[in-house]
Amino acid sequence: MTSPLFRTKNVEQSILDTEEPEHALKKSLSALDLTVFGVGVIIGTGIFVLTGTVAKNNAGPAVALAFVVAGVVCALAALCYAEFASTVPVAGSAYTFSYASLGELPAWIIGWDLVLEFALGTAVVAVGWSGYIQSLMGNAGWEMPAYLGSREGSDVFGFDILAAGLVLVLTGILVLGMKLSARVTSIVVAIKVTVVLVVIIAGAFFITSSNYKPFIPESQPVEAGQSLDAPLIQLMFGWAPANFGVMGIFTAASVVFFAFIGFDIVATAAEETRNPQRDMPRGILGSLFICTALYVLVSIVVTGMQHYSELSVDAPLADAFKATGHPWFAGFISFGAAVGLTTVCMILLLGQTRVFFAMSRDGLLPRFFSRVHPRFKTPHRPTILLGVLIAVLAGFTPLNELAALVNIGTLFAFVIVAISVVILRRTRPDLPRSFRTPWVPFLPLVSVAASLWLMLNLPAETWVRFAIWMAIGIVVYFLYSRGHSRLAREGQTAAPGRSGRPGP
Ligand code: ALA
Repeated sequence: MTSPLFRTKNVEQSILDTEEPEHALKKSLSALDLTVFGVGVIIGTGIFVLTGTVAKNNAGPAVALAFVVAGVVCALAALCYAEFASTVPVAGSAYTFSYASLGELPAWIIGWDLVLEFALGTAVVAVGWSGYIQSLMGNAGWEMPAYLGSREGSDVFGFDILAAGLVLVLTGILVLGMKLSARVTSIVVAIKVTVVLVVIIAGAFFITSSNYKPFIPESQPVEAGQSLDAPLIQLMFGWAPANFGVMGIFTAASVVFFAFIGFDIVATAAEETRNPQRDMPRGILGSLFICTALYVLVSIVVTGMQHYSELSVDAPLADAFKATGHPWFAGFISFGAAVGLTTVCMILLLGQTRVFFAMSRDGLLPRFFSRVHPRFKTPHRPTILLGVLIAVLAGFTPLNELAALVNIGTLFAFVIVAISVVILRRTRPDLPRSFRTPWVPFLPLVSVAASLWLMLNLPAETWVRFAIWMAIGIVVYFLYSRGHSRLAREGQTAAPGRSGRPGP
């Protein structure tokens, strides 16, 4: 007999749920909208901020290789995401996929994990945005009081009013409707991509080739510090913690992985896509490919403009132009970064509310949150609740360590999705799949291994925090969700192998 913990939601039911008028989202997005959406959320703090940090501390000019490694891990995961998103086109991304394949408890775990990814990711990006705005204000001679700025590294306790304010404004835009936010997004994405192209094209004229020597700096031992700071893999095997060298590229990859977060969010908009079977894979893979190419080019240019040991960790792209004597470009880039981070923040927030919405529609979170607004057709209740919580979080939270926590949560989701592809192929071979992951089960298994590898390159303390968050989630599941689950109440369980096509 199947345990209730592993009861699965049947795929047809997942799709039918979206047809209930009170719980239905508007279907208005095309493949182009999705690609713009993807690029809108993918390019952000990762390339604008973390490139400098990891080049300086972990990889030198080989940060470009770290982007390739992280990009490959994401591409593998994307091929799995694309199959699921085109098979189960309902809100909730990896959460929905795993509910249909692995069962309720694994789905809850992944949903809880995605809440961590998106909520903290939104907060991290909002803080990064605030930093750029403050830097622009600084150019104009205005300084925020320290207690309202709470900059990275500052000793003063403060509430970052700009970061919190941004999250609240974006919450309002999302409540008003998807179409409005998609339109705003397209304009902002155009500005952001223009800035990135300017960095690549203009920066190429200021490259000094000696900055590339050595391209992969020699491995350097780091002082024995707190052991929990070291990547878990180094502790597991008792290696002496080291930076640079080949292992440094992997450490860097586990950090710059943040720069790719977002393509999975395209999958969370499946329910709002006009033709998800065709457009979803195009949107996910298209946006991922564009971003990987841009990241590699930007990091090659920037580490060529300035020696990696001299790169700034706050605004490396802008400061590389200052260092080569072109401050006008620096101002332009800071402006574009600030504008670009706005959409990243908005779409992370959107992904977050959609996962929450899907979980509440299934009864795992209170059903109150799954009623869409009668006029705007948006899940306004979770949007407002989460928007306010994230605004508070963004106000108080420093940036760096949270990014690692976001990464581990996302990589964990990749692992679950890849496993789910294999399971659903066996339990529901009959389902129509407009996009099929190639070489199943080989490719999903490689994807699992690659994601785990990056996870192991994250600090041990990130693992501890992640374990605590997941433990809280398990407690919530057993205290609330298990008893309130819609499947439990309706006594509905999946019928593996049942034939029949999903609704439109
Ligand atoms: N990929 C997004 C960024 O770099 C989250 O900010």
